[in-house]
Amino acid sequence: MTIVDIETQGLTDEVFATLFTEAHTAHSFTEQPVSDETAEAIYELLKMAPTEMNTQPLRVTWVRSHEARESLAEVMNEGNKAKTLEAPLTAILSMDTNWHHHLGTLAPWAEERMGHFEENPLVRETMARNNSFIQVGYFIMAARALGLSAGPMSGFNHEALDARFHGDSGQHALVVVNLGYPHEGSFRPRSGRLSTETATRTL
Ligand SMILES: Cc1cc2nc3c(=O)[nH]c(=O)nc-3n(C[C@H](O)[C@H](O)[C@H](O)COP(=O)(O)O)c2cc1C
Repeated sequence: MTIVDIETQGLTDEVFATLFTEAHTAHSFTEQPVSDETAEAIYELLKMAPTEMNTQPLRVTWVRSHEARESLAEVMNEGNKAKTLEAPLTAILSMDTNWHHHLGTLAPWAEERMGHFEENPLVRETMARNNSFIQVGYFIMAARALGLSAGPMSGFNHEALDARFHGDSGQHALVVVNLGYPHEGSFRPRSGRLSTETATRTL
């Protein structure tokens, strides 16, 4: 079946299936490890996708060691504990409210606005939250493009996680993502998706 019946620049149905139509949120994984190279490739891909004013406020903490994983699992909601303990690799995705410290790299044309951002933490946090969440989406799609399945979770004690992993860095966790290679039982049945008629309109 042709998934997208329009000119697709040579992308095959398999590509659309891997990224969108057949891809699923994973709740368990095989024991196959996820290499450091693959983890790095996720970031190298996602960083190229657009953010407001090129802010790139997403920060990633890879959780690999047994010790860090146990500490993370303790602050996850009950239903998210076991799968976080068992995942081959887990990423804490956070927003950096001090993203403006990198303004010279991110947006040299806007460096004169440094004072404005410094004095307005609320503006910085709003931009950090909005754009980090966009980057969370890119993260999931990059992982899928690299053959992984992702299990994103916002069910955790945000304050406790920040106290354990972020100190006073100005970073705040948004989503924790388990990563690995799926097996037959990794996925839950697909829930409904809103139709084009329901979710879109043309004026
Ligand atoms: C930001 C975000 C937070 C989520 N939080 C949780 C969670 O805490 N626990 C959980 O089991 N699933 C969580 N999910 C998984 C969603 O329920 C799942 O992606 C959605 O139902 C689509 O499932 P599908 O990809 O299998 O179609 C989360 C997904 C996203 C994108």
